[in-house]
Amino acid sequence: MVSAMDPGYFESMYAESADPWGFDDRWYERRKYALTLAALPRPHYRRAFEPGCSIGVLTAQLAERCDRVVATDVVPRALASARDRMQREGLADRVELGRASLLDPWPAGAFDLVVLSEVLYYLTPADLGTVLARAVDSLEEGGSLVAVHWQHPVPEYPQTGRAVHDSVAALDGLQRVGSYRDADFHLDVYTRGATPSVAAAEGLS
Ligand SMILES: C[S@@+](CC[C@H](N)C(=O)[O-])C[C@H]1O[C@@H](n2cnc3c(N)ncnc32)[C@H](O)[C@@H]1O
Repeated sequence: MVSAMDPGYFESMYAESADPWGFDDRWYERRKYALTLAALPRPHYRRAFEPGCSIGVLTAQLAERCDRVVATDVVPRALASARDRMQREGLADRVELGRASLLDPWPAGAFDLVVLSEVLYYLTPADLGTVLARAVDSLEEGGSLVAVHWQHPVPEYPQTGRAVHDSVAALDGLQRVGSYRDADFHLDVYTRGATPSVAAAEGLS
């Protein structure tokens, strides 16, 4: 049987390193964040949700494009780093950080942006189905959902990034509006319901 990943797995990682994946330093991560931000169809969002926010590197960049960001993680140490970052970068009033699992009930209220970045492959297929249904339900009509995941298999993870992106692609109610793929990660952007292209939204097509 495939089982969900225990929060203790991630707590041990943060006990060994303040930035276990090198989000602050690696060119690989900086480039991936730049591609993720560039792929968002709208210049600005009202209210975003980023579950599994870690130390808040992507969260801070999202906050530059959003009125508010709700960001959660299962590891208090990661959230403390994220909180320090938001203070340092003058973003604390725009970012609401909290300890929660993706498996908990989602924050109340609608979002116009949901960012699922390097977090879905920690879920079992059954839990993934529940979480994705919540993601679609919480997304406003015309809102954007972004999925970004490492594509190489990781033996400890219940699912591969490939399987996760296939599950997102099979969801009802979303239309894919953009994708980027390379040997290492896939980035897919969806909107809820039919929406004009970026050019059409500005009257270019
Ligand atoms: C690889 S990091 C991704 C960080 C960030 N989203 C990014 O792309 O830069 C994964 C994070 O997800 C958190 N996490 C793992 N399982 C989770 C769950 N069930 N609910 C919420 N967060 C979880 C981990 O603690 C870790 O901080």
